[in-house]
Amino acid sequence: MDLGISGKQAIVCGASQGLGLACARALVQEGVNLTVIARTPGPLQEAVDRLNLLSGATITAVVGDITTDEGRDAVLEACPEPDILINNAGGPPPGDFRDWRQKEWFDAVNSNMYSAIDMIRRTLDGMAERGFGRIVNITSTAVKSPMPGLGLSNGARAGLSGWVAGVAREKVRDNVTINNLLPGLFTTARGHGYLAYRAAQEGVSAEAYEQQFYVSSPAGRMGEPAEFGATCAFLCSAMNGYMTGQNILLDGGVYSGTY
Ligand SMILES: NC(=O)c1ccc[n+]([C@@H]2O[C@H](COP(=O)([O-])OP(=O)(O)OC[C@H]3O[C@@H](n4cnc5c(N)ncnc54)[C@H](OP(=O)(O)O)[C@@H]3O)[C@@H](O)[C@H]2O)c1
Repeated sequence: MDLGISGKQAIVCGASQGLGLACARALVQEGVNLTVIARTPGPLQEAVDRLNLLSGATITAVVGDITTDEGRDAVLEACPEPDILINNAGGPPPGDFRDWRQKEWFDAVNSNMYSAIDMIRRTLDGMAERGFGRIVNITSTAVKSPMPGLGLSNGARAGLSGWVAGVAREKVRDNVTINNLLPGLFTTARGHGYLAYRAAQEGVSAEAYEQQFYVSSPAGRMGEPAEFGATCAFLCSAMNGYMTGQNILLDGGVYSGTY
C-alpha cells in the first residue's frame, strides 16, 4: 500500500535504536526524508548508515538531547518545516514513589510530557499553514493501565495524553492530526530492561519472569519493533486525516478492557 507520504519531511526523536528507529525505518521505506536525533553519536551514525540502505531518501543526523531547549533548537534548525513529527525520549527509571522528590518528578515530566509539548508548540501552526501534518507521540501502555514500579512514567505520560486530547482538535480541519502510540512490551533495550527489573522485584530470574509474561500475554510474546514502526507509518499516512487525539495501544492484548 502506498501511504502517500513519499518526499515528506519527518523529524524522528530518539531514533538510534528501539521503537524510534523502527518508526524511522518504516517512514524511510515510504520515501520520507528524515531528520533523526539521539544523544550518542556512534549508534546514531550506525542507524543512519542502515537507514540509508533502505531508500534514496535524505537522512540528516542531529546529535542532541531532545529534552533540552538546545536539542530541540538543533533538530528544528536541521528540519524547520517538518510534515511529520515523531516525539520520543527515554523512559524514566523505575522505583518506589517514596524515594522520588521534586527533581525526579520534574525530570520525568520534562522528558515524557513537556519535551513533546514544546515540539508540538513549535511545529503545529506551520503544518496547518502548509495543509498537512502528522504527529505521533510514543508514550506507553501505562496511559491505560499503570505499570508496576513505573509511577514516574504512569503519571507524566497520562499528563501528555490529557493535553494532547485537547490540542489534537485544534488543527484537524487543516489536515493536521496528533495521536499517541502506546507500546506494551517490545523487544528493545527498554523492554528487556523492564522485564529484568520486574524479575528482580519478584525474586525470580529474568528468564523465568519472561516465561511468566509469555503465559499471561494473549499474544504469548513481546512485540516486534517493526510492528510498532508499521503502525506509526500508517498514522503518518496521507489517508489518516480523520483520526486525531487517540491513544493507540499495541500490546498483544495484555490490556483487557473493552474500551
Ligand atoms: N520497549 C518497550 O517495551 C516500551 C514499553 C512502554 C513504553 N516504552 C517507552 O517508549 C519509548 C521508546 O522505548 P524504546 O524501547 O525504543 O527505548 P530504547 O531502546 O532505550 O531506545 C531509546 C532511544 O531514544 C534515544 N533517546 C533516549 N533519550 C533521549 C533524549 N533525551 N534525547 C534524544 N534521544 C534520546 C536513545 O538514544 P540515546 O540514549 O543515544 O540518546 C535511543 O535511540 C521510551 O520512552 C520507553 O519508556 C517502551
